[in-house]
Amino acid sequence: MGILDYFMLHDKKAVVTGGARGIGKASAIALAEVGADVAILDILDADDTVRQIKELGREAYSIKVDLTKEKEVDDAFAQIKKKSGRIDVVFNNAGIAYCVKCEDMTFEEWRKVLAIDLDAVFLVARAAGRYMIADGNGGSIINTASMSGMIVNYPQEQVAYNAAKAGVIHLTKSLACEWAKHNIRVNAISPGYICTDMTPPTSNKAWMDTWFAMSPMKRLGTASEIAGAVVYLASDASTFTTGCNIVIDGGYTCY
Ligand SMILES: NC(=O)c1ccc[n+]([C@@H]2O[C@H](COP(=O)([O-])OP(=O)(O)OC[C@H]3O[C@@H](n4cnc5c(N)ncnc54)[C@H](O)[C@@H]3O)[C@@H](O)[C@H]2O)c1
Repeated sequence: MGILDYFMLHDKKAVVTGGARGIGKASAIALAEVGADVAILDILDADDTVRQIKELGREAYSIKVDLTKEKEVDDAFAQIKKKSGRIDVVFNNAGIAYCVKCEDMTFEEWRKVLAIDLDAVFLVARAAGRYMIADGNGGSIINTASMSGMIVNYPQEQVAYNAAKAGVIHLTKSLACEWAKHNIRVNAISPGYICTDMTPPTSNKAWMDTWFAMSPMKRLGTASEIAGAVVYLASDASTFTTGCNIVIDGGYTCY
């Protein structure tokens, strides 16, 4: 086999959370391009992602789900298992950003961010891991963390987001160690500022000027610049890679 063959996911069954738009959408389409069938879990309508995947000749469907709700996550994975038969790859990616000074943040706001940015990552990994362990075929789980899990963003204040993303990085390492014996690899990706609905080019100009002054590449990344790492971690090109955190930030965390 040549090296490119190791990047292929011929007929593998993938699940992408937050695949209605942004990084999740670009990555779901990329996974389909290398041969995977994809189930999308999102609170939003993901019809356009499903349509684009089907145009590539792969199977796709979406389930509307609030990933902060334990029962909804477990029910969605039961449906996926029934419909797809197998779960080989999970891109555990849905999330929200929230910027407010800590002293002004309510506990409800803190809980809301943690619920999707950390609790849901656990709920999705647990649901997928249970099926992967029971089936005995191994698998690959890729969690979306952020450079915010390693550095403190400036000048915006986002204590809950930063804390949640740091949690995702260590949850990833912990699961990698627990599940290596089941041949389940668990890795994270940590994007820097990526041009999506979460970080649009119309973001606060003073913030963007500060970000670019602090960044070697001085621009936002694109969702498709993240998708390659997702394909690598999903595929057999990365069979010795687990517990790692691939940082894709245009060099931001180097300074
Ligand atoms: N864009 C960036 O600058 C950036 C940087 C670092 C990390 N990230 C991370 O990348 C991931 C994807 O972000 P994006 O930039 O594509 O943002 P996005 O807002 O375009 O996409 C996020 C997706 O998650 C879904 N989602 C949110 N809450 C949900 C819930 N409760 N249940 C189900 N789905 C839910 C949304 O509907 C949306 O489709 C997030 O985890 C985010 O924290 C983004």
